[in-house]
Amino acid sequence: MDDADQERQKQSVGRYAARYVEDGMRVGLGTGSTVRWTILALAERGLHLMCVATSVETQKLALENGLEVLTPGEVGSLDIAIDGADEVDPAFNLIKGGGGALAREKIVASMTDHFVVVVDESKSCPHLGAFPLPVEVLEFGADIVATRLRDLGADDVIRRPVVSDNGNPILDAGFGRIDDPAALTSELEAIPGIVEHGIFPGSMVRRVVAARGDDVVELSRSQET
Ligand code: A5P
Repeated sequence: MDDADQERQKQSVGRYAARYVEDGMRVGLGTGSTVRWTILALAERGLHLMCVATSVETQKLALENGLEVLTPGEVGSLDIAIDGADEVDPAFNLIKGGGGALAREKIVASMTDHFVVVVDESKSCPHLGAFPLPVEVLEFGADIVATRLRDLGADDVIRRPVVSDNGNPILDAGFGRIDDPAALTSELEAIPGIVEHGIFPGSMVRRVVAARGDDVVELSRSQET
């Protein structure tokens, strides 16, 4: 798939997912080049929505297009949240955070029982881990966390040159194939200094809207990873 095909798929799935949103809803807006199309489609429909944005970039896009943006505390909970992903496995476990917004994205996803993931065809995979796992950390413990990630099996741990919207460093940890995302999640959550990591459990996800060639399909979940 070339870049133009991929961009067409992002546009199709992003726009498709706007159909789940109705007037008056409280909506979580994800970050990235796929959900960008959802945000534009929502703005075009002229709905009155109360939105929570997962990044400064998304907040800017939403406001520029006439959407109202509130804080998580102001809305309390969300009717729906829509976001992209870097990898999706058959049980709907995700790796997210390629764009560095993972901490706010996970908070927003946790505020709804209708979390919709929009992905082009390249994001579906039998096992998570080919995409390096983004891990947001406190500056004070960044080097120590990097060592712990290596102890857990990451071959490569690379610090990004820029910090997150929260002002924290992000490490990209190359674990390779992750056989048990839940087990790795428990191990990561036991490391002091990690603010958030990019594994989103399948239990958070209600729907995955994916591109397949020129079509858009809603994937069925398989419990096998
Ligand atoms: C942002 O931090 C990420 O979680 C994105 O949602 C993810 O990287 C997908 O981005 P694209 O839609 O741009 O591929």
